[in-house]
Amino acid sequence: MSQPTADAFRVENLHKSFGDLHVLQGVDMRFPRGKITVVLGASGCGKSVLLRHLVGLEKPDQGSVWFGDTRIDDMSERELIAPRRHIGYLFQQGALFDSLTVHDNIAFALVEHGVATGDQVSVMVAHVLHLVGLTDKIHVMPASLSGGQRKRVALARAIVMHPQVVLYDEPTTGLDPITSDVINELIMKLARELSMTSIVVTHDLASAFKVADRIIMLHNGRVELAGTPEQVRASTLPVVARFLNGKASPEELAEIEA
Ligand SMILES: Nc1ncnc2c1ncn2[C@@H]1O[C@H](COP(=O)(O)OP(=O)(O)OP(=O)(O)O)[C@@H](O)[C@H]1O
Ligand SMILES: [Mg+2]
Repeated sequence: MSQPTADAFRVENLHKSFGDLHVLQGVDMRFPRGKITVVLGASGCGKSVLLRHLVGLEKPDQGSVWFGDTRIDDMSERELIAPRRHIGYLFQQGALFDSLTVHDNIAFALVEHGVATGDQVSVMVAHVLHLVGLTDKIHVMPASLSGGQRKRVALARAIVMHPQVVLYDEPTTGLDPITSDVINELIMKLARELSMTSIVVTHDLASAFKVADRIIMLHNGRVELAGTPEQVRASTLPVVARFLNGKASPEELAEIEA
C-alpha cells in the first residue's frame, strides 16, 4: 500500500457562488494530518460554506476537494457514505434532536451506520460522554442542558465514530469565556489523545490562538494568509491587523451609513 498523503484534506482553486454572490473565489488550502488548523474570517466570509464542501454537502462550481488521496467533490451521495464515516462534524447550530435523550442523540449515528449494536453502543456512548465530562447527563433531554453542555454533547456525537478528522464550525461562539475555554481544552485533548486531525472555523480570536497549530485567514473569498499563530500575530497585512484589532475598514463602515 502507498503511504497516505501528509494532508487529511486539501482544496484546490475552490469557487462557489450563490446567485450573484461569489463567496469562494479560488481557495487553496491544506489541512495537515494530526494538526489543528484554524480557519479565521469575518462573519459571512464563507467559512461554513467551505466546511460543507469538505463533506460533500456543497458542490464547488470550480476546483476540487481531496480527502487524503481521494477526490470527493464529484462523488454521489452513495459514494460519499464511505469517506463521511471518517469525518466528524460539529455543526454551527449544535443541532441535537430535541425528542431524543443525550444517549440516543449520540447513539444515533452508530446505529444508523451499523457501526455498533446493543451493549457496544452503550459502551461507546459512555466513553465519549466521559471524555466531554457529561457522564451524569446521559439520560436527560437536550432541552434541560445549558448552551455549553449542548455543544459538548454535539462534540461527543461528532467523535463517537472515532473519525480521522473532526470539523468544528464555531465551537465557542455564543459561550462565555470560561465555557469557551473548556471547549478549547477539549478540542486539544481530543486531538492529542485520539490523534485526530482537527479543522476549526471561527471568528473567536482567543480560541484560534489557543488551539491552532496553523491558522489560515479567509478574506474576500480568498486565503489572505496562512502560517503559524506567531506568523499571523506578526503579520503587517492591513486586513489581518484590522481583524486582530477588531477595527472595521472605511469600506465596511460605509455599508452601515448608506
Ligand atoms: N445555501 C445558500 N444560499 C444562498 N446563500 C448562501 C447559502 N449558504 C451561504 N450563503 C451565503 O454565503 C455567504 C457565506 O456564508 P457562510 O455561512 O459560509 O459564512 P460564515 O463565514 O460561516 O459566517 P459566520 O461566521 O457568521 O458563521 C453568506 O453571505 C451567506 O449568506
Ligand atoms: Mg458559519
